Amino acid sequence: MVAQRTREVEISGIRKMFEAAPPNSINLGLGEPDFDPAPEVIEALCTAVRSGKNHYGPSAGIPELRDKIAERYRELDPGTLRENVIVTAGGSEGLMTAALALYDPGTEVLVPNPGFVLYAPHAKLAGAVPVPYSLYPAQKYIPDFDELERLVSPRTRAIVVNSPSNPTGAVFPRSVVDRIVAFADRHNLTIVSDEVYEDIVYGTTATSFWGRSDRVVIANSFSKTLAMTGWRLGFLVAPKSYAAALNKIHYHILACPSTPVQVAVLAGIGNGSSSFQAMLKEFKARRELVTRLLGKMPGLSLVPPQGAFYAFPHFDWHRSSAEVAHALLARGVITTPGDAFGSLGASHLRISFAASQKAIRDGLKILQTYADEVAK
Ligand SMILES: Cc1ncc(COP(=O)(O)O)c(C=O)c1O
Repeated sequence: MVAQRTREVEISGIRKMFEAAPPNSINLGLGEPDFDPAPEVIEALCTAVRSGKNHYGPSAGIPELRDKIAERYRELDPGTLRENVIVTAGGSEGLMTAALALYDPGTEVLVPNPGFVLYAPHAKLAGAVPVPYSLYPAQKYIPDFDELERLVSPRTRAIVVNSPSNPTGAVFPRSVVDRIVAFADRHNLTIVSDEVYEDIVYGTTATSFWGRSDRVVIANSFSKTLAMTGWRLGFLVAPKSYAAALNKIHYHILACPSTPVQVAVLAGIGNGSSSFQAMLKEFKARRELVTRLLGKMPGLSLVPPQGAFYAFPHFDWHRSSAEVAHALLARGVITTPGDAFGSLGASHLRISFAASQKAIRDGLKILQTYADEVAK
């Protein structure tokens, strides 16, 4: 018999759509850059493997990489050291590690609704209760602080935040970050800030939560910025008072992160920026394209994404988001039903623009035809 906890979580709706899709479907579903890592990073991986960097390393990551990450975060908090950094198997493992290290059974965790698919299940797997806080298009998917005050209870342990957001594309202005920090401090909450899209922004900058509170854990990843979702590398940045506990859980999940991948990423952090700039430029062009094409569709409205690579249009077609996504899938385009991200994702579709401009044009043509039909 399998454990009860396996019944409390599901495979995400993103994966389900992907796995149900016929071959040759246009993929506007998955959130991964359709780029390769920079050539020098690929080369560094090959060299690392050939030169024998194929063995276990320290649980929290190789010191050189931890130092490099700490150096970057010193801009936000001059006291940041290697000891504050734990290298993880992507943001996903970092988030799971944070949940198991921070949430006690029976405590409550505020999670965004709509929000990324891991936060609520991770809280449940830790035995905690996810308490969704609402993000509405009319407020540009910024939290409502009156609602947060109503939701917080003596059992609340943490708040999970994600800016730039998957799926909404919202980027919290600095003033909102300040208010979240003040709210968390007032209620003794730990902030778990998922910043995996921090560098993927359009005409704005994302404000990190690091250095703003003594109780904040940053989850970050190389998956998106270095276009290496399959390499599985990310990191946590945490106050020293949390780092030992996080590292203990991380050790029990993973033993240690991949040694050759860490060596290769070290090369990428220093040299990968021109590849990143080229990728960002292309994402900007795609964002314009998606925003323009969605803007023409009847019954559909969009808060233009300020970050990440998703458009999250709201529709008023009196159909469920699963119905719409399945109808589109039958016509050859994969999207993600908005309610895969929580109840307030209903009447939304998530359209990933981590796909070529041709795929976006072809996929959104199908959506346009569908929108014209249902609007009649
Ligand atoms: C908001 C957010 N956080 C975390 C992750 C996990 O990324 P990874 O485990 O590839 O680093 C993703 C991936 O889609 C994401 O969108």
